[in-house]
Amino acid sequence: MAVYTPFQAQPPTFHNRSLGRDRPCHQEFPVPLVPMRILLDHAAANSYGLAAFNVNNMEQIQAIMEAAKETDSPVIVQASRGARVYSQDAYLRHLMLAAAELYPNIPIAMHQDHGNSPKTCKSAIEQNFTSVMMDGSLAEDGKSPATYDYNVQVTADVVKAAHPVGVSVEGELGCLGSLESGEGEQEDGHGAVGKLDHSQLLTDPAQAEDFYHKVKVDALAVAIGTSHGAYKFSRKPDGAVLAMDRIIEIHRRLPNCHMVMHGSSSVPQEIQDMINKYGGKMKQTWGVPVEEIQLGIKHGVRKVNVDTDNRMAITAAIRKVFAGTPEKFDPRDYLKPARESMQAVCKARMISFGQAGNAGKIKSVTCKEFAKSYS
Ligand code: G3H
Ligand code: 13P
Ligand code: ZN
Repeated sequence: MAVYTPFQAQPPTFHNRSLGRDRPCHQEFPVPLVPMRILLDHAAANSYGLAAFNVNNMEQIQAIMEAAKETDSPVIVQASRGARVYSQDAYLRHLMLAAAELYPNIPIAMHQDHGNSPKTCKSAIEQNFTSVMMDGSLAEDGKSPATYDYNVQVTADVVKAAHPVGVSVEGELGCLGSLESGEGEQEDGHGAVGKLDHSQLLTDPAQAEDFYHKVKVDALAVAIGTSHGAYKFSRKPDGAVLAMDRIIEIHRRLPNCHMVMHGSSSVPQEIQDMINKYGGKMKQTWGVPVEEIQLGIKHGVRKVNVDTDNRMAITAAIRKVFAGTPEKFDPRDYLKPARESMQAVCKARMISFGQAGNAGKIKSVTCKEFAKSYS
């Protein structure tokens, strides 16, 4: 195996999976990113869940990796389509390789969040993501609810491209959105538009069985009344607005299926208060309580998507610096506290989801090696 050393002028080139030309490929690196599936399998075998944190920049990746080092946690980092446009794939790819190089004892999976089409997922595979989500619950516009047949077809197409190269695939059944208002959350630009009924907003367990067996996804995102962003619930959620019973039923029918909870930020009260104390204007809101996520983990949830809590932690810390020391202008003066504030959130989630203490127990496998397990 060729060895990539940190300060080598030119990284070695290897044949890329699908571009048909030479370029660096994580599969050949001594500290490669791992397929998400091996993390999910380990989590299932040892009854814990993994936070999947969204990233857009270096400080967020650093915050996650430091929290992982502190707690010995395996890591799932994910990038939305918007994040890939914001940061550009090459920056993201190299930042992730830097993380793998700097933290060789921590297995890291790099995941495409909410791929809107097979094309998006295939481009992520070319960019060395080790896992992709084909969100076929919505059409390619990321806004209109799609038919079940369309979902099966596009997700199966992605599985066909991903599994031969050992890349994991997450599918989604049911549309994210509020059971209170019937609306998806549009603040991040991805989500159902207009009013949806409960049959669209809740994953049907019988359909989940059919989908899982037909499409052979590695992970299945379920719709249970959560939505993206801060404004999930107008009160502390109970079973009427957060349908944990769906998770319990799907797990009963599909005990080996790794479920994914999206929209699972907890929107901590103390961070809302801190943002508002330092000049922010957030309306009172409720997220998904950590205890509900822990209940999900007991019933087959293995991946828990968290973005908003980190966004809020960063914003609160920056607002505090701006309010307290308005004379400062060096970005490091506020990015460092912002990074620490996100690290604290990541650490707390890693501990409460149970992934802490597991990084060292996982045997890293490359995508290339893992591909054999699908044949
Ligand atoms: O998909 C949900 C995440 O919060 C990502 O949001 O599309 O604004 O990057 P984004
Ligand atoms: P939150 O907005 O609740 O953090 O959810 C993030 C998410 O589901 C990303 O896919
Ligand atoms: Zn999501």
